[in-house]
Amino acid sequence: MASSSSVLLVVALFAVFLGSAHGIPKVPPGPNITATYGDKWLDAKSTWYGKPTAAGPKDNGGACGYKDVDKPPFSGMTGCGNTPIFKSGRGCGSCFEIKCTKPEACSGEPVVVHITDDNEEPIAAYHFDLSGIAFGSMAKKGDEQKLRSAGEVEIQFRRVKCKYPEGTKVTFHVEKGSNPNYLALLVKFVAGDGDVVAVDIKEKGKDKWIALKESWGAIWRIDTPEVLKGPFTVRYTTEGGTKGEAKDVIPEGWKADTAYESK
Ligand SMILES: *[C@@H]1O[C@H](CO)[C@@H](O)[C@H](O)[C@H]1NC(C)=O
Repeated sequence: MASSSSVLLVVALFAVFLGSAHGIPKVPPGPNITATYGDKWLDAKSTWYGKPTAAGPKDNGGACGYKDVDKPPFSGMTGCGNTPIFKSGRGCGSCFEIKCTKPEACSGEPVVVHITDDNEEPIAAYHFDLSGIAFGSMAKKGDEQKLRSAGEVEIQFRRVKCKYPEGTKVTFHVEKGSNPNYLALLVKFVAGDGDVVAVDIKEKGKDKWIALKESWGAIWRIDTPEVLKGPFTVRYTTEGGTKGEAKDVIPEGWKADTAYESK
């Protein structure tokens, strides 16, 4: 009896040992990457998710609330940031140069990715869980699949200003469920810092800016007993303090689940 229970104890201890040896080590997240941290290259780990040549999640969305991230201007060059990069949604839309030099399939050339999603797996201080497209784009030409088969690689990254192809407009998506007492706006394709820290709206003919609150991801909302009447001018502030304004961008007869582009 005694010997069988000590065998059990040994087996149990061995299982704990194996578990910790093979389990994911928990690495605390690094400090937030802000718009002003500079242009220093930092170390990170990168993994990928979704299909090898797709943009990430099945619905081409993610924790920022963007949809169609497989289409321009993101074109699948997207990924999840961990806590100091995703920043509870504040990091949505921010842009990073990333590159890898090992394994052999890495090109070492920087590519730009956009943060569209969240990943909190504690595998590194900084972690980019990229779309198959973005991960593969760090490879030498023709070696994309070879690099993807490595699964996880050490990379270097730095924050850069977002640049979108000419003609890309800052876009305000009025979210599903919005109505005259509840307006939720998703703001996307903001050049420069890329991430938005404040959104205000102003009804036509009024002088008062109304501040929206952070909802989730890149979505800002307001709930109000007063009826909101369009057209609305929208003002947004980026993390570095730059303000942009889209005059009367949301028309009088606006509809939910519709995108409006700044002129
Ligand atoms: C990092 O950013 C998030 C989101 O803005 C914020 O809530 C958190 O306090 C920041 N952490 C530090 C250490 O500044």
